[in-house]
Amino acid sequence: MIVAIDGPAGSGKGTISKIVGEKCNLLYIDTGATYRCLALKVLENNIDLEDKDAIIDAASKINVRFTLDAKTYLDDIDVSSKIRTPEVSSAASKVSSIPKVREYMVDLQRRMANSDDVIMEGRDITTVVFPNADYKFYLDASINERANRRYKQNLEKGIESSLEEIKKSIEERDYADMHKEVGSLMRTDEQTYIDTSNMTIDEVVEEIRKVIGR
Ligand code: DC
Repeated sequence: MIVAIDGPAGSGKGTISKIVGEKCNLLYIDTGATYRCLALKVLENNIDLEDKDAIIDAASKINVRFTLDAKTYLDDIDVSSKIRTPEVSSAASKVSSIPKVREYMVDLQRRMANSDDVIMEGRDITTVVFPNADYKFYLDASINERANRRYKQNLEKGIESSLEEIKKSIEERDYADMHKEVGSLMRTDEQTYIDTSNMTIDEVVEEIRKVIGR
């Protein structure tokens, strides 16, 4: 079984997919983490973010692995925290806009789903990676709600941030995610659309479970 979930940054798709995965015995695959690993590799090897050929070469050789306890390994090193910095986020947005990079990453993501029932989330899972997925969802939330969530997450981690700055950076990422040459985030008639703005995590999880019948 393949459950595909797309949605913008801060829509809650990571948190929700992880819980649905645990409850329904589906392997959770965070495709954003594959782009983040490539971005980390590019930064650590001092590859220029404008050097597309070098980035494509790095994408062709990338060695990423997810474990059942939701950890991410790059070249057999646990990079789960390292790939969440603002610097990596911004570089991930850049590398993910290169069409040839996406070809390598989509291939990798498909192979990750080879032998298990999976719940996979990203931006182009319902449209490009698994257009024939058994179930397709688009999770959304208002820009204010998404900025508030990120602001609260930062507070919990002891990171000081400005709500206005967060909102601006989410708007920039939305624009970049929705205007890619290939693999843009988009809504289609085949997705079940869920606006999570006024829903609890449990409510969203239950709504998805109702649809997939698990
Ligand atoms: O979901 P995330 O914030 O971890 O994603 C990191 C970056 O990768 C983000 O800029 C969007 C991009 N991405 C993508 O282009 N396609 C995907 N399937 C997943 C993420």
